[in-house]
Amino acid sequence: MATSTPREDKFHGRAQEYDNVDFRQRYVEEMARSIREYLPQDRKVTIMDFGAGTGLLTERLAPYAEKIVAVDVSESMIARLAEKASALPCAIELETIDLQKEKYPKCVEGIVSTMTLHHIGDIPSLLKNLLDALEPGGFLALCDIDSEDGTFHTVNSGVMHYGFDREALKQLFEEAGFIEISVADSTVVHKPHGDYPAFILSARRPG
Ligand SMILES: C[S@@+](CC[C@H](N)C(=O)[O-])C[C@H]1O[C@@H](n2cnc3c(N)ncnc32)[C@H](O)[C@@H]1O
Repeated sequence: MATSTPREDKFHGRAQEYDNVDFRQRYVEEMARSIREYLPQDRKVTIMDFGAGTGLLTERLAPYAEKIVAVDVSESMIARLAEKASALPCAIELETIDLQKEKYPKCVEGIVSTMTLHHIGDIPSLLKNLLDALEPGGFLALCDIDSEDGTFHTVNSGVMHYGFDREALKQLFEEAGFIEISVADSTVVHKPHGDYPAFILSARRPG
């Protein structure tokens, strides 16, 4: 685990209870299903789960991957994922990295992510680091919520974007150097106080 620099852990204190929320389990299940369509169907590859958290997406994609590099800035979320890792059916590498500020030092064939992008203030810096972490021709598939009115989270500290405008986000990926960028519906997140549509954005690093 790369843990040399102290990093702000905004999820400290939430990791143990994070998985015990039915609507969260449901939407990650549905997002994982849409992300799976972007994995190579004929072979298992190494992918990075960016903002892996406690591993809700990692554990759902593990049967379809050779290895998952689970990256998160939060020591406590990664520690919770570490408790599950040995039971998962693929190799798991755990990395505590702030991908907005730091690079993952190797390359993977694909990057996947659920519900992390809206926690990133400096998206252009993040996208540069994600692009550099992809092999030439590598793919990215991430899910997040569409623009919302600020009611999605009960507490908005650590929330840098109230969802995303799809076209504006595509443009940021284009400016970062990604190609074959497309955005489609993923699911609708049903929370007790409202429904929030979510998208899947897919893209590639040029070969
Ligand atoms: C809402 S949680 C989503 C976790 C998981 N993907 C899921 O869907 O259950 C967002 C995660 O992104 C992580 N995160 C936020 N900013 C990050 C950054 N700059 N680099 C790496 N991880 C980050 C947080 O620590 C947190 O675990």
